[in-house]
Amino acid sequence: MVPRPYYSERGDHIDSKTPVTVSRYRGFTRINHWITAATLILLAISGLALFHPSLYFLTGLFGGGQITRWLHPIMGVVLFFSFLLMFVQLWRLNMPKPEDVTWTTRIGDVVKGNEDKLPELGKYNAGQKFVFWAMTGLILLLIVTGVMIWQQFFAHYVPVPMRRIAVLLHALAAVAILLVFILHVYAAVWTRGTLRAMTRGTVTGGWAWRHHRKWLREIASRDTKGPAE
Ligand code: HEM
Repeated sequence: MVPRPYYSERGDHIDSKTPVTVSRYRGFTRINHWITAATLILLAISGLALFHPSLYFLTGLFGGGQITRWLHPIMGVVLFFSFLLMFVQLWRLNMPKPEDVTWTTRIGDVVKGNEDKLPELGKYNAGQKFVFWAMTGLILLLIVTGVMIWQQFFAHYVPVPMRRIAVLLHALAAVAILLVFILHVYAAVWTRGTLRAMTRGTVTGGWAWRHHRKWLREIASRDTKGPAE
């Protein structure tokens, strides 16, 4: 049996055309990612609309206050399952590795773009892993507290004092996930050549060499040995 790759997915591969491109995400993962992203954005808008009277006007985007209140928790369930599907695909390569500690302690060089001073990395750097685990924890907290305050179905199961704590935690988790979301989008745009990984599914060979060399090396050695399966 062929051993599981350590830094890459089985489907990742190099296309030796000019310029060289490397497959990073298959179509299924990209659709899954964009459904997750769209759901989170809609949840943020509808959540803000329900959060404070000054933002109530945002309910107009969903067809009014009642529809927003009905739709928000349903979208929350969609986000939970959509992210769960991403989690199953991505958790293994987001596990911490020794080089993540070095990368984090040299964050100054990351910001300055001194990649030559940083360790070689697998498919994800420590920042991406932080975003992944933060989103995982916060989505779990949001779904648990969200169900607890879902009056339509669960009003009789949760005592009022507990519901109050759930509301507070739900709002705090929502603010936190928005900050993580901004960090994620900023990093994706700021690191040139990254966005196409989630739009076209590929990155250039140069991008892979510069940012995720261990990932590239593993795919290259696998591809020269022939297909992994
Ligand atoms: C408009 C908003 C978003 C943009 C532009 C965006 C962009 C991207 C890009 C370019 C990547 C590929 C990065 C790489 O492979 O190096 C990525 C990966 C990823 N995105 Fe997003 N994203 C957005 C929203 C979201 C949301 C809302 C979530 C989750 C709630 C999310 C979760 C992830 C995860 C888990 C990965 C894989 C990286 C990892 O596992 O560490 N993204 N995103």
